[in-house]
Amino acid sequence: MVTLRAASFLDKGGTGKTTSIAHLGVALTELGHDVLLIDLAGKQGDLGKHLGEWEQVKEDIANDEDWPNISTVFDDTWNKIVDTVGEQEAVDKLIIETEEGPDLIPAHPGLDSLDAELGNVDDATERYSRLDAFLSQYIDGRGYDVVLVDLPGLTNNVSYNGLWAVDGVITPVEMGPFESEQADALRDDLETFRDRFDVEVVLAMVLPNKMDTRTKLASEYLEEFEDQYPDAIAPEPIPVSQDIRNAANSGQTAFALEEPSTTAERAREAFLADAEALVDRLGEKA
Ligand SMILES: Nc1ncnc2c1ncn2[C@@H]1O[C@H](COP(=O)(O)OP(=O)(O)OP(=O)(O)O)[C@@H](O)[C@H]1O
Ligand SMILES: [Mg+2]
Repeated sequence: MVTLRAASFLDKGGTGKTTSIAHLGVALTELGHDVLLIDLAGKQGDLGKHLGEWEQVKEDIANDEDWPNISTVFDDTWNKIVDTVGEQEAVDKLIIETEEGPDLIPAHPGLDSLDAELGNVDDATERYSRLDAFLSQYIDGRGYDVVLVDLPGLTNNVSYNGLWAVDGVITPVEMGPFESEQADALRDDLETFRDRFDVEVVLAMVLPNKMDTRTKLASEYLEEFEDQYPDAIAPEPIPVSQDIRNAANSGQTAFALEEPSTTAERAREAFLADAEALVDRLGEKA
């Protein structure tokens, strides 16, 4: 079987990358897929927080029970770990199961220095293909249908590893003129990446987020995105929902809410439709 891979990416903070990875991940499990989420977005561990796992991860770190962790897969440390405990256990220890369904490889403070460490690697292929090599050798055989990677909101050696490794990019955008500029910059970024490294990376999904459906302006921006990205636009925009924000703060996605508001309900439906489109699109590319 093929494990599909996608990553959230936009050279900008706060548009909903982590929210989208968490919700698409849960939506995919609701649709019956086995999903692994990987947090490369930084030591603050936002994806783990969103899924209610970060307190435990922090405790493990404090108790020195954080070995191996995501930062160890990027250098020789990983080979030593595999030599010591064996491949099966090494990978098992990296992955945690979350209550809402997806498995998770959480962030780690070691991610902080990773960008600089990768920067010391001379050869570009060597520098940028490490995540890809790790996923191919250690994760692809594990039976996951989809791997989703949350990347930092900037272009660096870590996000380049993400782009190199995946079949497609998910880009959450807010509705506004600045956002469409960002999306154009993204298109250029991906083109540069393709040309420089001859790596096929596709914009799989432009995901309009925090959509206020009551305003005419938002609808106009949405139409603009639809025109600009006819193949990549997500089938359903994600409504702005206070419930999403509140749920995130208590370590849950909108799918875990027992009494979802109308907007949270609509967000769930939208994420389900978008998750389904995502696997279709990635499947065509892979
Ligand atoms: N549809 C939505 N409705 C309401 N709030 C949302 C929605 N999507 C995201 N948010 C909120 O917006 C904020 C930013 O979202 P998120 O953390 O997912 O963005 P990000 O792109 O991962 O940011 P960063 O670049 O800092 O990692 C969070 O407080 C989140 O709860
Ligand atoms: Mg984030």
